[in-house]
Amino acid sequence: MIEPPYNPSPSRYDDGMIYRRAGRSGVLLPLVSLGLWQNFGSRQSFSKVCEMARYAFDRGIVHFDLANNYGPEYGTAEENFGRLMERSFRPYRDELFISTKAGYDMWPGPYGNWGSRKYLMASLDQSLRRMKLDYVDLFYSHRYDPETPLEETLQALVDIVRSGRALYIGLSRYPLEAARFAFDYLAARDVPCLLFQDRYNLLDRAPVESGVFDLSVAAGSGFIVFSPLAQGLLTNRYLGGIPAGSRMSEGRTLRSEVLDEATLNRLRGLDDLARQRGQTLAEMALSWLLRDERISSVIIGASSTAQIADNLRAMENLNFSDDELARIEHLTRG
Ligand SMILES: NC(=O)c1ccc[n+]([C@@H]2O[C@H](COP(=O)([O-])OP(=O)(O)OC[C@H]3O[C@@H](n4cnc5c(N)ncnc54)[C@H](OP(=O)(O)O)[C@@H]3O)[C@@H](O)[C@H]2O)c1
Repeated sequence: MIEPPYNPSPSRYDDGMIYRRAGRSGVLLPLVSLGLWQNFGSRQSFSKVCEMARYAFDRGIVHFDLANNYGPEYGTAEENFGRLMERSFRPYRDELFISTKAGYDMWPGPYGNWGSRKYLMASLDQSLRRMKLDYVDLFYSHRYDPETPLEETLQALVDIVRSGRALYIGLSRYPLEAARFAFDYLAARDVPCLLFQDRYNLLDRAPVESGVFDLSVAAGSGFIVFSPLAQGLLTNRYLGGIPAGSRMSEGRTLRSEVLDEATLNRLRGLDDLARQRGQTLAEMALSWLLRDERISSVIIGASSTAQIADNLRAMENLNFSDDELARIEHLTRG
């Protein structure tokens, strides 16, 4: 069957998307970005991958977040993204902001994991081949490696930018002191960290509590949130049980043990509040993050275009009354 050509929506930039600057940089990011961690690999049909990615772009989501090992299986989210580039997105390359990462296990042996120059350089070359790209917009060190001198990891990032294979670099999940050293090292070499990526949501405030959020803002880095919906917990997905086909039903990265009675009660209370605001729980969870202008973007995952559509509605109400914020604190921290 001959596929019809892809014509993106002409209204993609007039359809409600808000773009926000990433730290002290020239880069604007959509408030909602799309991550390809779980539902874009070889276990998904390619037509579904296309449908979700095209829908996202049609709605102004120009930032796609990948990593070498996203799938599942490892590498296959990037492979599918490469097919998407060839079939749909190539004419729009300059409208897209594409990130990838290396830092977790990717291939066997001593050179397929962590933070050595050897691994980062080889992994980015592999990612570019899979994604059929000459360069990525952003390359991340996916995690801090306590066994590799931090200078080695950071210098590899600097050299990657200088080689033209990435326009910017970023850090993901670095502990506070390593992040502090990294921001200084990179700035001193005129390759400042564009984005710090960490998990942050209504149920997990770790980057704020550790101080790494304030540190990255003070350093001029943007801050981009992953798992803003706690992998689906902060949605209506589990309020009535564990649906077949959901991430929790698969039990790989989201285990059913987290859905204890106390958590369910919290989620029900948050869901009530969201309804009073005229939002779904997912929308409110994203609005709550995005109300803080220091957050550059939230990277959502999705298994349907309907979920993406729901999440985009979060941008329609980013204001919270003091009373609503107090109720949220009581429900999530009390
Ligand atoms: N740097 C890192 O170490 C790191 C780690 C993790 C993730 N990330 C990045 O962050 C991205 C997002 O992470 P995440 O997938 O955990 O994000 P998330 O947005 O917290 O969770 C996504 C899941 O929530 C459910 N969902 C989303 N919207 C929904 C809605 N409106 N209503 C009901 N359910 C909804 C879907 O679950 P179902 O699939 O069950 O439908 C979806 O797959 C990843 O793709 C990746 O790019 C980075």
